[in-house]
Amino acid sequence: MHQNSVGLHNPKIWIVDFGSQYTMLILRKTRELGFSAIIKSLGEIKEHFLNAQYPECLVLSGGPQSLYEDKEDYSFIFQNSSLPILGICYGMQIIAQQFQGLVTKGHQGEYGEAKIFPGDIHLPGFELNHLRQRVWMSHRDHVQKIPENFSLLFQSSEGLVAGILHHSRPILGLQFHPEVEHTPAGKDLLKIFYEHYASLKTDIHGEHLLSLARDVIHKTFSEYDNTDNFQILCAFSGGVDSLVATELLHQMYPGRVHAFFVNNGLVREQDLIHIKNLKMELKFPIHVIDVQNEFWKSLHEISEPEAKRKIIGKKFIEVFERTVLEYQQKFSIRFTHLLQGTLYPDVIESHGKEVIKSHHNVGGLPETMNFKLVEPFRLFFKDEVRKVGLQLGLKKQWIERHPFPGPGLGVRILGTVTESKVNQLKHADQILFEELINHDFYLHTWQAFVVLLPVLTVGIKGDGRAYESVMALRMVNSGDGMTATFTKVPYELLEVISRRITNEVEGVTRVVYDITNKPPGTIEWE
Ligand code: XMP
Repeated sequence: MHQNSVGLHNPKIWIVDFGSQYTMLILRKTRELGFSAIIKSLGEIKEHFLNAQYPECLVLSGGPQSLYEDKEDYSFIFQNSSLPILGICYGMQIIAQQFQGLVTKGHQGEYGEAKIFPGDIHLPGFELNHLRQRVWMSHRDHVQKIPENFSLLFQSSEGLVAGILHHSRPILGLQFHPEVEHTPAGKDLLKIFYEHYASLKTDIHGEHLLSLARDVIHKTFSEYDNTDNFQILCAFSGGVDSLVATELLHQMYPGRVHAFFVNNGLVREQDLIHIKNLKMELKFPIHVIDVQNEFWKSLHEISEPEAKRKIIGKKFIEVFERTVLEYQQKFSIRFTHLLQGTLYPDVIESHGKEVIKSHHNVGGLPETMNFKLVEPFRLFFKDEVRKVGLQLGLKKQWIERHPFPGPGLGVRILGTVTESKVNQLKHADQILFEELINHDFYLHTWQAFVVLLPVLTVGIKGDGRAYESVMALRMVNSGDGMTATFTKVPYELLEVISRRITNEVEGVTRVVYDITNKPPGTIEWE
């Protein structure tokens, strides 16, 4: 079984994964449209179909292979004539081949942005105006002859077949990728297919997600009853994922959840205030572990970004383990479960890609301790966790907080980390945060922070010359952090922030604004 098929009950749409790098995006876009969906392997689909189990709609993803090398027999996919099928890229080529069209081996291929034009028929509800022409292509082979009983829906500027539609069966093929942002009309195309060709009604909303998460948790604890002494431990950052996960567990099993917040001396002022508020307002215990000095000491004279990340990650595990053991002894309890707010993209992304930055969160923590993992959001995207949080009654401003990286200010102080630099940065970051709130701009940017640069520049302070530090403001807009554009902040707001930082933060003469998109820049500077 594919790991990600656990816990989703009867999703309407099954997405067959042929190995495209975009398969997860099909799932994401589909769920954003409000339709429940799951990714399955071809083997799983085959088994289901053999047992006459069908979804309400099937999507065939793209894939890196060529039908010329692929000897698989796909005819079983098309035997149920009422099953709506959408084929994307390689998926469309499978459709074309199965219905006796002709797929030819490409020598050049089409990669990247392209334009599509209307074919012989019109897709009801879809207008191909200027913006909607832009699509994302990534293929070498192409459909040369449209199969019988299909019409040409779109063609590319190169004159290649870009979309086909069956005359009587609900089968649509798209050579381009409707699931990526670079196809602006892609989401509409998916919606039209799901609603008009597959006759689906939306079924994903907050309550549905909440019951999914509850099902996963019930399953984990099914072997226990209320008299059993299970205790749940959570490494709590106060960020959206750990907050929603802990509140959910607490509501299901009151009195059994224990949250531990590690103050590693690399968190912002707003985080400490946030934790204080949560402690007052929430019903589960939040234990604050104050180990700032220990962290600063471990980072002494370390300036290489990866080395810093590794030290912070390792230290975190060490402190967490130690504290938990002490706590267990002191209060004679034994933790049986470790709660983690792991999200679906984390699960997918850990599939052996090149490491740009080694991410530190609570993943894999702590190996030597014998806990059962509870991961209610393993199949969820961030926006879905937010919906669950609101369903649970958590405050909107807690749910809408910007992301904050595990290594915290440690990777925003370029070069070596010292207590005084941490204090400088904390102060500047708090000013930025306050002004974003004052100007009602916090939700107009996806993430906003200050970076302390290891550079001194000349300035004038009072009547004298100053030779002091530079701080960079970074604000970006993004959907999932994978790509980002710098936020177009009003100059007036930048000016207020810059003036306050240079006036109020000791040792800073200059503030600059980072205007780099991702790629090529990453969001964090280290
Ligand atoms: P980058 O810098 O890779 O950041 O473009 C993308 C998003 O991930 C956050 N980030 C991290 N989050 N542990 C985390 O939990 C980390 O080690 C880490 N590094 C970066 C970053 O803040 C941005 O939102």
